[in-house]
Amino acid sequence: MPLVPVSGLRHQHNPKAATGVPVTARVRAVMPSSGLAAAKAEIGSWPGYAPTPLRDLAGIARAAGLGALLYKDEGARFGLGSFKALGGAYAVNRLLKAELAKRGIAAATADLLSGKYAEAARAVTVTTATDGNHGRSVAWGAHIFGCACVVYIHGTVSPGRERAIAAYGAQVVRVDGNYDAAVRRAAADAEAYGRFVVSDTSYPGYMEVPRDVMQGYTVMADEAFSALAAPPTHIFVQGGVGAMAAAVAAQAWEAYGAARPRIAVVEPENAACLLESAAAGRPVAVGGDLETVMAGLACGEVSLLAWEVLEDGGDDYLVVSDAAAVAAMKLLADGACGDAPFVAGESAVAGLAGCLAAAAVPAVAAALGLGEGSRVLVFGSEGATDPETYARLVGRTPQEVTAACSA
Ligand SMILES: Cc1ncc(COP(=O)(O)O)c(C=O)c1O
Repeated sequence: MPLVPVSGLRHQHNPKAATGVPVTARVRAVMPSSGLAAAKAEIGSWPGYAPTPLRDLAGIARAAGLGALLYKDEGARFGLGSFKALGGAYAVNRLLKAELAKRGIAAATADLLSGKYAEAARAVTVTTATDGNHGRSVAWGAHIFGCACVVYIHGTVSPGRERAIAAYGAQVVRVDGNYDAAVRRAAADAEAYGRFVVSDTSYPGYMEVPRDVMQGYTVMADEAFSALAAPPTHIFVQGGVGAMAAAVAAQAWEAYGAARPRIAVVEPENAACLLESAAAGRPVAVGGDLETVMAGLACGEVSLLAWEVLEDGGDDYLVVSDAAAVAAMKLLADGACGDAPFVAGESAVAGLAGCLAAAAVPAVAAALGLGEGSRVLVFGSEGATDPETYARLVGRTPQEVTAACSA
């Protein structure tokens, strides 16, 4: 019996992946090696910074026929519930400092946190489109560093996620259509009202801010690699627009060089723009409503900057069903196979679900070189960022699962 349903599993190898070589010049051009040190120094100075835990899923690894399975748990990141806290807020910090500098103010982070230049900071408005977590990060960054913020959400973003963004004082605007429609509206309104777009996705002519977002994410990857007892052979990482996967892939390459782990990017069935791009050999968009329970991954267009990295450094692309993701959430909530139970959100577990589904299908496992000798790292990118959705999918509230952990 597979640990998660395998129907709907798709695998696409990336024939262009550069394996057995040091980090390519193309990847370095997108993610310079100096970026991590700057992001670590900045983010490490923010109140509440602490590395997130790396959980050992030894029982699930045994049951899946893997040597080791480690889960980097971003559920507690800065109290925001997802790894996205590292990216959007970091980009807000850098953008606000740059804008204040243009007005003759050399603000340090401590100045922004203390409100020293509050009036000048409030005159800067940042804006973004989001399916939830990125908008929460931008709104939180604007809140702590003192600028104004307008966040665009699309039709299917849940009221719980909307409330979480508004809680940081941002103005929230709901737009008809999907995530990509919200991206376009945010950009158009920014132009009209003189706001600064802080997007996690890049497009022609808009690369610097999304690069900062990705640099912020490398802090998560670096923490994980520093905490591992042995280098991973495989990393399974979920993809929305691909920024997180690209940050992880680039940092893994920096950390392990030519011996880097094999990178598998995992997406939902209706939003597999990265897999389709790998199949086509160029960025291609996926249309439709992109419907999936994995709300953070409901993206139809790749980030061009992320694609630059993933075309060289993303070895395999997988698609998993919503049922596989929900099964993976339940495995973790139940403390399956003797592992300690914990809370993981629906977008958090896509990488894990992809790994477990791949391990259960002999042809896919063989294609990925996955087996008893594999040391797999997955990135649990969120906790229960939408508690109502979590309770509906798992059958228990996040509080009930957490109470069972500490019992
Ligand atoms: C929890 C979670 N995991 C993963 C992702 C995917 O990140 P990216 O869009 O950079 O691929 C998102 C994006 O919103 C997310 O919220």
